[in-house]
Amino acid sequence: MRSPALSVALWASIALARPQIPGETLTGTVGNTTVAGISSSPDSNGKYTISGPGIRANFIPYGASISNLFLNDTSGVERDIVGGFDNASYYGIDRQHPHFGGVPGRYANRIKNSSFVIDSTTYNVLPNENPTTSSPQGVDTLHGGPDGWDWRNWTVVAHTSNSITFSLTDPDGDQGFPGEVVSYVTYTLGNMTWDMRMVALATTKVTPIMLSSHTYWNLDGFANTETPLALNHSLWLPYGGQRIGTDSILIPTGDILSNQPQSLNDFWSTPKQIGANFTNSDLLGNCGENCTGYDTCYLTNRQEPYDWRESGPVARLRSAWSGIQVDVFTDQEAFQIYSCGGQNGSMALKSTQGLYNNSSRPRTIPQYGCIVMEVEDWIDGINQPEWGRQSKQVFGPGDDPYVLQASYRFSLNSTDVGLLGEGSG
Ligand SMILES: *[C@@H]1O[C@H](CO)[C@@H](O)[C@H](O)[C@H]1NC(C)=O
Ligand SMILES: *[C@@H]1O[C@H](CO)[C@@H](O)[C@H](O)[C@H]1NC(C)=O
Ligand SMILES: *[C@@H]1O[C@H](CO)[C@@H](O)[C@H](O)[C@H]1NC(C)=O
Ligand SMILES: *[C@@H]1O[C@H](CO)[C@@H](O)[C@H](O)[C@H]1NC(C)=O
Ligand SMILES: *[C@@H]1O[C@H](CO)[C@@H](O)[C@H](O)[C@H]1NC(C)=O
Ligand SMILES: *[C@@H]1O[C@H](CO)[C@@H](O)[C@H](O)[C@H]1NC(C)=O
Ligand SMILES: *[C@@H]1O[C@H](CO)[C@@H](O)[C@H](O)[C@H]1NC(C)=O
Ligand SMILES: *[C@@H]1O[C@H](CO)[C@@H](O)[C@H](O)[C@H]1NC(C)=O
Ligand SMILES: *[C@@H]1O[C@H](CO)[C@@H](O)[C@H](O)[C@H]1NC(C)=O
Ligand SMILES: *[C@@H]1O[C@H](CO)[C@@H](O)[C@H](O)[C@H]1NC(C)=O
Ligand SMILES: *[C@@H]1O[C@H](CO)[C@@H](O)[C@H](O)[C@H]1NC(C)=O
Ligand SMILES: *[C@@H]1O[C@H](CO)[C@@H](O)[C@H](O)[C@H]1NC(C)=O
Repeated sequence: MRSPALSVALWASIALARPQIPGETLTGTVGNTTVAGISSSPDSNGKYTISGPGIRANFIPYGASISNLFLNDTSGVERDIVGGFDNASYYGIDRQHPHFGGVPGRYANRIKNSSFVIDSTTYNVLPNENPTTSSPQGVDTLHGGPDGWDWRNWTVVAHTSNSITFSLTDPDGDQGFPGEVVSYVTYTLGNMTWDMRMVALATTKVTPIMLSSHTYWNLDGFANTETPLALNHSLWLPYGGQRIGTDSILIPTGDILSNQPQSLNDFWSTPKQIGANFTNSDLLGNCGENCTGYDTCYLTNRQEPYDWRESGPVARLRSAWSGIQVDVFTDQEAFQIYSCGGQNGSMALKSTQGLYNNSSRPRTIPQYGCIVMEVEDWIDGINQPEWGRQSKQVFGPGDDPYVLQASYRFSLNSTDVGLLGEGSG
């Protein structure tokens, strides 16, 4: 199913990682450059720092989450371009739990009716979304359940100046899933790149596994003087000619839909601003009942065989205001876009974001102020056997590990927006 050589290399690198001495200064290499001067300990906010040329990030054990990502914009001003909280302890306190920058697991996105069948056995997992009077906990399972992987503190098992590795052991039966799963997530910063590698092993029973990275982006760091929104970010999905059809609560119907050029869900034929079609009333309901915008799983239809490090990007997000552009390369075959229609201005910006001299603008994340991009497999593939995703989503003790790899490559691109193909109407 998956490359065994890769997992051997990963285990070797983990076996070689020595325990960190608290407070020691770490060094690492990026290409031929030695990077030094990073503390192995979390800072006073509970965050771990890693850096590479032109990029610096903070991570926390809660959800193995990215909490801050700093790059300089075209004016040389540092921007923190991901959503998060100021301190690690607040992640478990905030009741909205927006899955800020974490790793949803053991099964990302939604599971229809909170159930699935493996080898003729029906499993019921804990529901946590869309409560009704007859199902007060919900009628489906989102991101692995009420205590999914991004509600838990992972263990830091390795930390260098430019990489950090988290580990989690998810016990048999937790949230209703069969069997134990052991997972490692390594994040690495290079020359204006953020790479991630996620590995998970089903150690005792056959079980579904699907992970992702649930990062909220605002490429202006909410400091755009014209707008705190991300609706002027342009998105391009060069392989995204199809999407998975969903019902009013975003559960896949089984239909694979095509994204016709110029249609609401077309980010494939040409780059388009996220907000370009927000004046079209047909966009209401496009991301579930009463929701305007996108919460959409695009397929990334690349011709096999391909090398994911070359056959990309599968997505490009860019803000002309900051000039920051991110190109997403991944081995995953689907890509979810969420335009933050569910934000309502009740979550604080970090101290590293926003404007300080504009008292008329609240220091919170507004509706449509962010974009979530999730590399993943075909959502709810475990309940759509005709899609043939079993080998990518169901794993047992004798199988190769589940593997997710992605590379976010940043650049500065201050091309003006609006006229050619990135229509603002
Ligand atoms: C790194 O150093 C090697 C040996 O000096 C050289 O061949 C290679 O081109 C260098 N790579 C980069 C990225 O500078
Ligand atoms: C941004 O530029 C400043 C000044 O050159 C530099 O000190 C800082 O490290 C840069 N930020 C990042 C994230 O590279
Ligand atoms: C942690 O961050 C939250 C959210 O910004 C804030 O409300 C809280 O006061 C912070 N707590 C500490 C101890 O800094
Ligand atoms: C997770 O770690 C944070 C500190 O980073 C701590 O405040 C919190 O209580 C921990 N949560 C759990 C469930 O252990
Ligand atoms: C915003 O949304 C959160 C989570 O859904 C909810 O708890 C809160 O009451 C909402 N606030 C407002 C002002 O609507
Ligand atoms: C939903 O799951 C319940 C509990 O397993 C089961 O009784 C019911 O038949 C399922 N409904 C559908 C529509 O699959
Ligand atoms: C980073 O990449 C840029 C262009 O791709 C190159 O000019 C620069 O030398 C690289 N920096 C390092 C430290 O490798
Ligand atoms: C930003 O988006 C809005 C609506 O989505 C549009 O009216 C406006 O022209 C855009 N601005 C730019 C500079 O493209
Ligand atoms: C959608 O909006 C209508 C009209 O405001 C309301 O009656 C209905 O309950 C809403 N549905 C949901 C799921 O919020
Ligand atoms: C407010 O701060 C922004 C940067 O955060 C800057 O671009 C703008 O010029 C400032 N405005 C005033 C009136 O100082
Ligand atoms: C910069 O953005 C423009 C507009 O989307 C695009 O045409 C161009 O290819 C981008 N440049 C690079 C180097 O990615
Ligand atoms: C969506 O926006 C694009 C860019 O402005 C435009 O060309 C297209 O006609 C719009 N599509 C619909 C269905 O409104």
